[in-house]
Amino acid sequence: MKGNALLYLVEGGAPALVALLARAAFFALKKDIARHKKAAIIHVAATWISLIVVAVLVNMGYAIGENAPAWILNIHLAIIYLIPPLLVILPATALTGRRTAHMMAAITYCMVWAATLITGAMIFSMSKGWL
Ligand code: HEM
Repeated sequence: MKGNALLYLVEGGAPALVALLARAAFFALKKDIARHKKAAIIHVAATWISLIVVAVLVNMGYAIGENAPAWILNIHLAIIYLIPPLLVILPATALTGRRTAHMMAAITYCMVWAATLITGAMIFSMSKGWL
């Protein structure tokens, strides 16, 4: 275990990813597809970068939330594993004009993000002894 400062820094970027997702969703709901596409592509690229950096740091031995119970860490991890396939499905369905599939993937993706944030906050609170 190498401490946690770097990992906290990267995971601290999550609100920026959520803000970009909210912007993409906002423009989709307004049917401003050009702006939606731009915000979504930036969100997807930033999320890939964040996932890769976190994976590299975890493999290097960085860790946070080690004091939280294993069950919540496992649930959080299982939810996070749903993100990469959806990051492929979202642009693939959009760019091939499969609108219904794209919207279903978008709803799933937003729910996965909500579950990620809730379980992430639970891990943080549990490891601090607040929960
Ligand atoms: C790289 C990722 C993405 C790209 C390139 C993309 C692109 C597009 C495009 C081109 C459309 C128009 C589809 C059509 O009318 O046939 C669309 C629609 C839509 N997208 Fe995305 N999108 C992406 C990610 C997302 C994400 C992350 C969300 C979740 C908020 C989302 C939610 C929606 C929704 C709800 C619509 C339907 C809008 C309407 O009512 O017309 N998309 N997207």
